[in-house]
Amino acid sequence: MHTLYFDLRDTKGQQKEIEDKIAAAAKILREGGLVAIPTETVYGLGANGLDGEAVQRIFEAKGRPNDNPLILHVTGQQWLPRYCRDVPPIAYVLARKFWPGPLTMILKRKPVVPDETTAGLDTVAMRCPNHPVTLAIIREAGVPIAAPSANTSGRPSCTSAQDVLEDMDGKIQGVVDGGPCTVGVESTILDLTCEPPRLLRPGGLPLEDLERLIGHIDVDKAVTGALKEGEKPKAPGMKYRHYAPKAPVTVITGAPEKSAREIQKRITATSGVICFDEFAHLFREQEVHTLGPSGDKLTQAQRVFDALRTFDNSAVTEIFAQCPDNRGLGLAVGNRLKKAAGFHVIEADSERVVLGLTGGTGAGKTSALRAIESLGGTVIDCDQVYHRMLTEDEDLRRDIHNAFPSAFTRDGVLDRQKLGQEVFSDKERLAQLNEIVYCHIIPELRRMLEEGTGDLFAIDAINLLEAGVDQLCDRTVAITAPAELRVRRIMVRDGITEQYARLRISAQKPDEYYRGKCDLELNNAADSPETFESEAREFFQRLIETVKEEKQHGTV
Ligand code: TXA
Ligand code: MG
Repeated sequence: MHTLYFDLRDTKGQQKEIEDKIAAAAKILREGGLVAIPTETVYGLGANGLDGEAVQRIFEAKGRPNDNPLILHVTGQQWLPRYCRDVPPIAYVLARKFWPGPLTMILKRKPVVPDETTAGLDTVAMRCPNHPVTLAIIREAGVPIAAPSANTSGRPSCTSAQDVLEDMDGKIQGVVDGGPCTVGVESTILDLTCEPPRLLRPGGLPLEDLERLIGHIDVDKAVTGALKEGEKPKAPGMKYRHYAPKAPVTVITGAPEKSAREIQKRITATSGVICFDEFAHLFREQEVHTLGPSGDKLTQAQRVFDALRTFDNSAVTEIFAQCPDNRGLGLAVGNRLKKAAGFHVIEADSERVVLGLTGGTGAGKTSALRAIESLGGTVIDCDQVYHRMLTEDEDLRRDIHNAFPSAFTRDGVLDRQKLGQEVFSDKERLAQLNEIVYCHIIPELRRMLEEGTGDLFAIDAINLLEAGVDQLCDRTVAITAPAELRVRRIMVRDGITEQYARLRISAQKPDEYYRGKCDLELNNAADSPETFESEAREFFQRLIETVKEEKQHGTV
């Protein structure tokens, strides 16, 4: 097959010529052919998303497994109700703010969308790309365009028309060249069919931007780590080992100076290195591809696939990659590098261990925290942090003020008691307050950890998991205890009646909840706080060893 090349890099030139090319590409698509199209994230391999047979050809050209659904590309939110049912209002809120742009929303599908596009799922992925040429092509074609990234399955995504030709020349009807992609990593995928919404794939739109608009978002496990055998991610594509160069990749996380030093310790003359610009001079003997300056995640996103792709034609025996932190676009860049590494990740900061502790009243969290302190650890009490922020953090105060104006006096002083009363018996208001607090407390905790010294930290939070504090922790531990023991302990501790003690315990989440959500459980059936504290010390000592071991030698 001859692959037509449509050069649309310059859209300011001859309008007639441009329109003709757009019309030609749209015609091929309408008639069931395949055309690679530019988007701001990566190039897509497009077909008419309503034509099952055309979509099937995408899978053949890419060698893509059939169980991996495609994204439908549209020109705006007005297309949502054509292909999706029960569209929640939040989808329109998001579309208004972020479309066109690197956000894909998972919604319930209507039957007009063929099974080939959604791989038989009851949901469909919707995105409005921010590229004038592709928007014009979709408008002209008059159908939504199903398009996965235009690479051969398993190879890095294509960020230029040349990359596409490398993989697809002779296999598809056309390639539209719209210039290099400005974002460089694929769109962020957000599942809106669950509550709270769930991040299925980090991408060109940072998680923080989404959370600022719609509050807390759960992060799917497949984003941050390898899945265990038999575990299924919600985005089927996340289970595949993508973007893998031929040589095995090891990702080194941690502060850039530390990760560079760690790579230096490990390399040989035949190693390849992906690093930030500042550190390239350390690897003169090796083949090096740089990601851009360590502080510039925009450039890192643009270059990450290029760096991986370039190693495909190289004879290196192994590749070490520096990795940005998880903030902003760093989550997406890090995710692509880690996926290329099959999540073989080593932490340069391997000495430091952060534990998250949670559990109900009377279970023994205080003793467990004392055990951490006796091991030289620093305890961060989220409740205290919150109270400090209430007086010091202007952004938090402003957000609370906007949502709860009546909890403030006329001169803008927060009346905590009033705030407490307002949320005490109103679940929705409480959820609203929590949402605001969680959004602000995570960056603050992160800052405290970064600025803190020492190798051991324990973060204590009753809402550890709901608040998303677990993302800062190496392990989360549920402190639990037999119910009868808890009743007796809090009766003695707080001087309350048995009835009241039972009431307090039953108002909290049961142990099973914490057990199910945390990585580990520490059960306190000891007959004195001292005994439990020493049991806890041993437990944590073993745990810290395991975590450090894992960080030094890599997970998986
Ligand atoms: O930026 C992008 O999103 C690019 C450009 C071309 O738009 N497209 C892209 O498509 O990255 P692709 O096919 O390489 O990745 C789509 C991901 C896959 O992981 C797939 O499993 C997931 O989206 N996906 C598609 N439909 C889904 C659905 N209904 N539910 C969950 N995940 C879905
Ligand atoms: Mg892809």
